[in-house]
Amino acid sequence: MNKKKKLDSQINNELILKSNSPTIFEPSQLDELQKQKRAVCEMAARSILHALDLKDSYTYGHSARVAFYSIELGKQIQLNSDELYELELSALFHDIGKIGIPDGILLKPDRLNDEEFQIMRKHPEMSSEILEGFEPFKNVAKYARHHHERFDGRGYPSKLKGDEIPLFSRIILIADTFDAMTSSRTYRKGLSYEIAFRELLEFSGSQFDPYLVPEFIKAMRKEKRRNEKTFTLKILNQEFKKEAA
Ligand SMILES: [Fe+2]
Repeated sequence: MNKKKKLDSQINNELILKSNSPTIFEPSQLDELQKQKRAVCEMAARSILHALDLKDSYTYGHSARVAFYSIELGKQIQLNSDELYELELSALFHDIGKIGIPDGILLKPDRLNDEEFQIMRKHPEMSSEILEGFEPFKNVAKYARHHHERFDGRGYPSKLKGDEIPLFSRIILIADTFDAMTSSRTYRKGLSYEIAFRELLEFSGSQFDPYLVPEFIKAMRKEKRRNEKTFTLKILNQEFKKEAA
């Protein structure tokens, strides 16, 4: 099986936003239904993400950048437009569970102690809990739940290994780590792309999918050559600044 086919087979075929209605509708009516369904999902997404922005604006901006980097990787491995759409939604929502983390832990500028770290580790499951009750976000909930699994099976919450980890969760982990390394905080300056690439390569095969890391680096080198300072996303009507140097 070639790599593209293998990736395709790992993506759940029941993409949430594809209409699965039988044949009673004309194709143009189906298109219209699908558009309406997407519009409702996007309104729900914007409302939920607005709550995240109010709680912690850094995590909101981080989620937007993770969505942008995830899509760059998704394009590099030739995902189709429905897949890219669902990937964007999943990346935007990956940390939504941080709404449930107390401010004293979430916004703490210093290192977390063990007890605080254990609470912080619950955020992927909380992301999933928030999303899974809304049927169109069922798959998105699963991808958010597993975005801290490691390729070697030593991640959390389910200790999934290799291809057991959903493809979108493996993509989001790389984009998430890249943004965490490259974005600047009040207490430290972000790393350059090239230094961050070295870190990703060092943990390729242990933390990260060893097929996806080189594809991500290729995608991000292309992205850097475009030399754009901002980006926009399909789902959020907003322009975001890129942080990485
Ligand atoms: Fe996370």
